[in-house]
Amino acid sequence: MHHLIAPSLLASDFANLQRDIELVNASEADWFHVDVMDGMFVPNISFGFPVIKAIKKHAQKPLDVHLMIVDPDRYLKDFKEAGADSITVHYEACPHLHRTIQVIKQLGCKASVAINPATPVANLVDIIADLDMVLVMSVNPGFGGQKFIEHTYTKIAQVKTLAANANPNLKIEVDGGVDIGNAAKLVEAGASVLVAGSSVFSASDPSLAISQLKHL
Ligand code: DX5
Ligand code: ZN
Repeated sequence: MHHLIAPSLLASDFANLQRDIELVNASEADWFHVDVMDGMFVPNISFGFPVIKAIKKHAQKPLDVHLMIVDPDRYLKDFKEAGADSITVHYEACPHLHRTIQVIKQLGCKASVAINPATPVANLVDIIADLDMVLVMSVNPGFGGQKFIEHTYTKIAQVKTLAANANPNLKIEVDGGVDIGNAAKLVEAGASVLVAGSSVFSASDPSLAISQLKHL
C-alpha cells in the first residue's frame, strides 16, 4: 500500500485559506490534516467549528481532524457536522476511550487515537482492534515547526507489530517535524500517513514538496 500525505493546514496562511486549500486540492496530497487546539490539553489555541466549516466548503479531499482538546466527547457530533471524515482523539484526554471510539464510528467517521511522545504504545493493546488509525505524535502537540523526536521510529514499529495480528488494516499516522529528510525512514518503519505542516507550507513550492513526500 502506498502511503498517504496529509498537509496540516495549521501551517497554511489563514488570511489566504481558500488559496491554500485549492493548492492542496490540486496537489498529490490525499487528506487535509485539521489541528484543533483548546488551550487546555495543549498550551495553544488554533481554531474551531466556523473555520472547519469554511475549510469543508472548498476541500475536495477528506478532512482528517486531530483533536488536541480535553473531553472531546462533548463535541464529537459537532465535528462530524462541521465536516470531519476522520476524528483523532488523544489517548491522554479520554478516560472512557472505548466509548469515545464507538461514538465516533456511530457518527460515520473513521476513528483514530493519538499518543503523545511519552505515552507507551502498549497502552493501546485493548483498543487497537477497534481503530481505523493510530496517530504517533513525533513532537509534543501544540505547535507546528518543532523538532522531530527520533524515538518515533521505534514507536511506529511497535504499533506495526501490535497491529499485525489484532488489526492488519490499521493505518499508522505520524505527525510533527515530518520532512523530506525523515519521510522515507518513517514509511520504512511502518508509517502509512505522513502529516506535514511547515515542511509543506514553508516550502517555496508547496505542491512540489507534497509530491516529493509522496514519491520517496
Ligand atoms: C502539532 C500538530 C501538527 C502540526 C505539525 O501539535 O498536531 O499537525 O501542524 O506541524 P509540523 O509539520 O510543522 O511539525
Ligand atoms: Zn496534528
